[in-house]
Amino acid sequence: MIDDVERILYTEDQINNMCDELADKIRKDYSGRELIFVCMLKGSVLFFSDLVRKVGLPCRLEFMEVSSYGSGTVSTGKINIKKDIGCDIAGKDVLIVEDIVDTGNTLFYIKDYLEGRSPASVKICTLFDKPLRRQKPVSADYSGCVVDDQFIVGFGLDYDERYRYLPYVGVLRPEVYSS
Ligand code: PRP
Repeated sequence: MIDDVERILYTEDQINNMCDELADKIRKDYSGRELIFVCMLKGSVLFFSDLVRKVGLPCRLEFMEVSSYGSGTVSTGKINIKKDIGCDIAGKDVLIVEDIVDTGNTLFYIKDYLEGRSPASVKICTLFDKPLRRQKPVSADYSGCVVDDQFIVGFGLDYDERYRYLPYVGVLRPEVYSS
Protein backbone atom coordinates (compact mmCIF):
# COMPACT_ATOMS: atom_id res chain seq x y z
CA MET A 1 0.00 0.00 0.00
CA ILE A 2 1.33 3.47 -0.84
CA ASP A 3 1.88 6.06 1.93
CA ASP A 4 -0.82 8.49 0.77
CA VAL A 5 -3.46 5.82 1.34
CA GLU A 6 -4.69 5.51 4.92
CA ARG A 7 -6.28 2.08 4.51
CA ILE A 8 -7.47 -0.27 1.81
CA LEU A 9 -11.25 -0.34 1.44
CA TYR A 10 -11.50 -2.92 -1.35
CA THR A 11 -8.73 -5.28 -2.39
CA GLU A 12 -8.07 -6.30 -5.97
CA ASP A 13 -9.84 -9.62 -5.30
CA GLN A 14 -12.90 -7.95 -3.80
CA ILE A 15 -13.17 -5.59 -6.77
CA ASN A 16 -12.83 -8.53 -9.13
CA ASN A 17 -15.69 -10.31 -7.37
CA MET A 18 -17.89 -7.21 -7.55
CA CYS A 19 -17.19 -6.97 -11.29
CA ASP A 20 -18.09 -10.65 -11.72
CA GLU A 21 -21.43 -10.19 -9.96
CA LEU A 22 -22.33 -7.08 -11.95
CA ALA A 23 -21.33 -8.76 -15.22
CA ASP A 24 -23.51 -11.79 -14.47
CA LYS A 25 -26.57 -9.58 -13.94
CA ILE A 26 -25.92 -7.51 -17.06
CA ARG A 27 -25.34 -10.62 -19.21
CA LYS A 28 -28.71 -12.05 -18.12
CA ASP A 29 -30.58 -8.78 -18.66
CA TYR A 30 -29.15 -7.89 -22.07
CA SER A 31 -28.77 -11.28 -23.72
CA GLY A 32 -29.96 -11.11 -27.34
CA ARG A 33 -30.15 -7.30 -27.36
CA GLU A 34 -28.01 -4.65 -29.10
CA LEU A 35 -26.03 -3.17 -26.25
CA ILE A 36 -23.88 -0.06 -26.34
CA PHE A 37 -21.56 0.38 -23.35
CA VAL A 38 -20.62 4.00 -22.67
CA CYS A 39 -17.40 4.50 -20.72
CA MET A 40 -17.28 7.73 -18.73
CA LEU A 41 -13.65 8.77 -19.00
CA LYS A 42 -11.41 8.80 -17.26
CA GLY A 43 -12.42 7.34 -13.92
CA SER A 44 -14.33 4.31 -15.19
CA VAL A 45 -11.73 3.07 -17.66
CA LEU A 46 -10.33 0.23 -15.53
CA PHE A 47 -13.78 -0.91 -14.40
CA PHE A 48 -15.13 -0.61 -17.95
CA SER A 49 -12.44 -2.78 -19.51
CA ASP A 50 -12.95 -5.51 -16.90
CA LEU A 51 -16.74 -5.32 -17.11
CA VAL A 52 -17.15 -5.56 -20.90
CA ARG A 53 -14.85 -8.60 -21.02
CA LYS A 54 -16.69 -10.30 -18.18
CA VAL A 55 -20.15 -9.60 -19.67
CA GLY A 56 -18.92 -11.16 -22.90
CA LEU A 57 -21.93 -10.20 -25.05
CA PRO A 58 -21.55 -8.78 -28.56
CA CYS A 59 -21.63 -5.03 -28.00
CA ARG A 60 -20.35 -1.66 -29.09
CA LEU A 61 -17.96 0.38 -26.94
CA GLU A 62 -18.32 4.16 -26.82
CA PHE A 63 -16.57 6.81 -24.77
CA MET A 64 -17.57 10.12 -23.23
CA GLU A 65 -15.49 12.54 -21.24
CA VAL A 66 -17.23 15.08 -19.06
CA SER A 67 -16.03 17.08 -16.14
CA SER A 68 -17.59 18.82 -13.19
CA TYR A 69 -14.77 18.73 -10.66
CA GLY A 70 -11.89 20.65 -12.28
CA SER A 71 -8.78 19.84 -10.27
CA GLY A 72 -10.40 19.97 -6.83
CA THR A 73 -12.61 17.79 -4.65
CA VAL A 74 -15.84 19.81 -4.86
CA SER A 75 -18.29 19.28 -7.73
CA THR A 76 -18.98 22.55 -9.54
CA GLY A 77 -22.34 21.10 -10.66
CA LYS A 78 -21.72 22.47 -14.14
CA ILE A 79 -21.22 19.65 -16.64
CA ASN A 80 -18.80 20.19 -19.47
CA ILE A 81 -18.81 17.61 -22.31
CA LYS A 82 -15.21 17.26 -23.47
CA LYS A 83 -15.79 14.21 -25.67
CA ASP A 84 -19.10 12.85 -26.98
CA ILE A 85 -20.02 9.35 -28.20
CA GLY A 86 -19.48 8.73 -31.89
CA CYS A 87 -22.53 6.77 -33.00
CA ASP A 88 -26.29 6.92 -33.43
CA ILE A 89 -27.97 5.33 -30.40
CA ALA A 90 -31.57 5.58 -31.67
CA GLY A 91 -33.41 2.35 -30.86
CA LYS A 92 -30.40 0.86 -29.04
CA ASP A 93 -29.92 -0.17 -25.42
CA VAL A 94 -27.34 2.03 -23.73
CA LEU A 95 -25.51 1.21 -20.52
CA ILE A 96 -23.51 4.05 -18.97
CA VAL A 97 -20.54 2.73 -16.99
CA GLU A 98 -19.24 4.87 -14.13
CA ASP A 99 -16.63 4.37 -11.43
CA ILE A 100 -18.65 6.33 -8.88
CA VAL A 101 -21.91 8.22 -8.46
CA ASP A 102 -21.36 10.98 -5.93
CA THR A 103 -23.49 14.14 -6.03
CA GLY A 104 -25.27 12.70 -9.09
CA ASN A 105 -24.69 15.92 -11.03
CA THR A 106 -22.78 14.18 -13.84
CA LEU A 107 -25.24 11.36 -14.51
CA PHE A 108 -28.37 13.45 -13.99
CA TYR A 109 -27.22 15.56 -16.91
CA ILE A 110 -25.70 12.81 -19.08
CA LYS A 111 -28.59 10.35 -18.76
CA ASP A 112 -31.02 13.04 -19.85
CA TYR A 113 -28.67 14.09 -22.65
CA LEU A 114 -28.46 10.53 -24.04
CA GLU A 115 -32.20 9.90 -23.60
CA GLY A 116 -32.73 12.88 -25.89
CA ARG A 117 -31.32 10.81 -28.76
CA SER A 118 -34.21 8.28 -28.72
CA PRO A 119 -32.44 5.12 -27.51
CA ALA A 120 -34.50 2.04 -26.55
CA SER A 121 -33.17 2.40 -23.00
CA VAL A 122 -30.48 4.14 -20.96
CA LYS A 123 -29.31 2.47 -17.76
CA ILE A 124 -26.50 3.12 -15.32
CA CYS A 125 -23.89 0.74 -13.96
CA THR A 126 -21.56 2.06 -11.28
CA LEU A 127 -18.91 0.29 -9.27
CA PHE A 128 -19.29 2.60 -6.27
CA ASP A 129 -22.25 4.63 -5.03
CA LYS A 130 -22.13 7.45 -2.46
CA PRO A 131 -25.84 8.11 -1.79
CA LEU A 132 -25.10 10.27 1.27
CA ARG A 133 -23.65 12.94 -1.02
CA ARG A 134 -26.47 13.00 -3.55
CA GLN A 135 -27.70 16.40 -4.79
CA LYS A 136 -29.64 15.14 -7.82
CA PRO A 137 -32.09 12.18 -7.96
CA VAL A 138 -29.91 9.61 -9.70
CA SER A 139 -30.07 5.90 -8.94
CA ALA A 140 -27.92 3.22 -10.52
CA ASP A 141 -29.55 0.18 -12.13
CA TYR A 142 -26.44 -1.86 -11.33
CA SER A 143 -24.28 -0.91 -8.35
CA GLY A 144 -21.21 -2.73 -7.01
CA CYS A 145 -21.31 -1.30 -3.50
CA VAL A 146 -22.29 1.69 -1.40
CA VAL A 147 -19.46 3.70 0.16
CA ASP A 148 -19.49 6.24 2.97
CA ASP A 149 -18.62 9.87 2.50
CA GLN A 150 -14.85 9.46 2.43
CA PHE A 151 -12.28 10.32 -0.22
CA ILE A 152 -11.41 7.14 -2.08
CA VAL A 153 -8.82 6.61 -4.79
CA GLY A 154 -7.55 3.77 -6.95
CA PHE A 155 -8.93 1.47 -9.66
CA GLY A 156 -9.56 4.53 -11.84
CA LEU A 157 -10.53 6.97 -9.09
CA ASP A 158 -8.16 9.91 -8.78
CA TYR A 159 -7.23 12.91 -6.76
CA ASP A 160 -5.81 15.55 -9.08
CA GLU A 161 -5.10 12.83 -11.72
CA ARG A 162 -3.08 10.71 -9.27
CA TYR A 163 -3.69 7.17 -7.96
CA ARG A 164 -5.85 5.92 -10.87
CA TYR A 165 -3.37 3.09 -11.54
CA LEU A 166 -3.76 1.45 -8.12
CA PRO A 167 -5.28 -2.06 -8.40
CA TYR A 168 -7.12 -1.59 -5.10
CA VAL A 169 -9.39 1.16 -3.70
CA GLY A 170 -8.24 2.97 -0.59
CA VAL A 171 -9.09 5.93 1.60
CA LEU A 172 -6.86 8.92 0.90
CA ARG A 173 -5.13 10.52 3.89
CA PRO A 174 -6.91 13.86 4.58
CA GLU A 175 -3.56 15.68 4.78
CA VAL A 176 -2.99 14.87 1.07
CA TYR A 177 -6.05 16.80 -0.16
CA SER A 178 -6.27 19.43 2.57
CA SER A 179 -2.65 20.66 2.28
C1 PRP B 1 -15.92 11.65 -11.39
C2 PRP B 1 -16.51 10.25 -11.60
C3 PRP B 1 -17.89 10.55 -12.11
C4 PRP B 1 -18.24 11.83 -11.38
C5 PRP B 1 -19.16 11.50 -10.23
O1 PRP B 1 -15.49 12.16 -12.60
O2 PRP B 1 -15.75 9.54 -12.55
O3 PRP B 1 -17.92 10.78 -13.49
O4 PRP B 1 -17.02 12.39 -10.89
O5 PRP B 1 -19.41 12.65 -9.48
P1 PRP B 1 -20.84 13.33 -9.36
O6 PRP B 1 -21.84 12.24 -9.09
O7 PRP B 1 -20.65 14.22 -8.15
O8 PRP B 1 -21.11 14.09 -10.59
P2 PRP B 1 -14.57 13.47 -12.74
O9 PRP B 1 -15.42 14.60 -13.24
O10 PRP B 1 -13.80 13.70 -11.48
O11 PRP B 1 -13.59 13.05 -13.91
P3 PRP B 1 -12.69 11.71 -14.05
O12 PRP B 1 -13.64 10.58 -14.39
O13 PRP B 1 -11.77 12.02 -15.19
O14 PRP B 1 -11.97 11.46 -12.75
